[in-house]
Amino acid sequence: MGASLHQRINVRALMPMQTVILHTPKGGSGKSTLARELAVAAASTLQVALADLDPQGTTSGWYQRRGAVSPVLVNMDPAKPTWHLVEAGVELLVIDTPPGQPPYIGKLLASADLVLVPVRPTPDDLLAAAPIASSLARHPAWAFVLSQVPPRTRLLAGALRQLAALGRVAPVHFTFRADYPAAAISGQAASEFTGKASEEALGLWAYVQTILRGSDAVTPNGKAGRPDRAQGHRTGSSSR
Ligand SMILES: Nc1ncnc2c1ncn2[C@@H]1O[C@H](COP(=O)(O)OP(=O)(O)O)[C@@H](O)[C@H]1O
Ligand SMILES: [Mg+2]
Repeated sequence: MGASLHQRINVRALMPMQTVILHTPKGGSGKSTLARELAVAAASTLQVALADLDPQGTTSGWYQRRGAVSPVLVNMDPAKPTWHLVEAGVELLVIDTPPGQPPYIGKLLASADLVLVPVRPTPDDLLAAAPIASSLARHPAWAFVLSQVPPRTRLLAGALRQLAALGRVAPVHFTFRADYPAAAISGQAASEFTGKASEEALGLWAYVQTILRGSDAVTPNGKAGRPDRAQGHRTGSSSR
């Protein structure tokens, strides 16, 4: 952690820090988009740090365009502990990972409080979902998140069925919307505007909070409720 983090976040007594990792070996699935949306949504109530482990620097570039101090972008060595972030008062660490399987990824995922796996509802992404589910089988908290779902598509129902057979599915999905890349142009997130994309992003953050608090019972709108079944919940946002 550089001095700049200390300048932006008051150093205070040790607080628990939770970690959410966006992971899938598939490139273009939505890791960076979800990481930024979650970090920004969470930053309205928490001290949030965002780490970009992708050498392509998508999220770092977004942050440079942002011009806002929160969430704060931090340098992180994925092979080293993150006590410095805890000491700096970070309450939530969101980690954006590169495509592929870097050597550190197994240990990093095991250390996370939650792993989110974005998946597009395409045959290629769905085929890749089974090995990812196997690799996360022993992790206590991970979930697929459907990403870039075309509006009004029949692909959605089939994708949900297939993913629910492999693991937990977030009850909120991200529709393919220009609002996501449009917000990123100026280093913002869709959740900083009004509209359907904002509702999806805030809905995902609501779901993430239920998992981090130890309960994943949410309804499609992110409100407390009963899950459909132990694994593979109903998806929330209808395809629009
Ligand atoms: N829900 C969405 N709607 C429209 N475009 C999206 C959406 N999610 C991601 N994108 C775009 O798709 C591309 C890949 O997304 P990205 O989040 O960078 O994936 P990854 O980090 O997994 O490689 C980017 O250009 C991003 O702006
Ligand atoms: Mg990325």
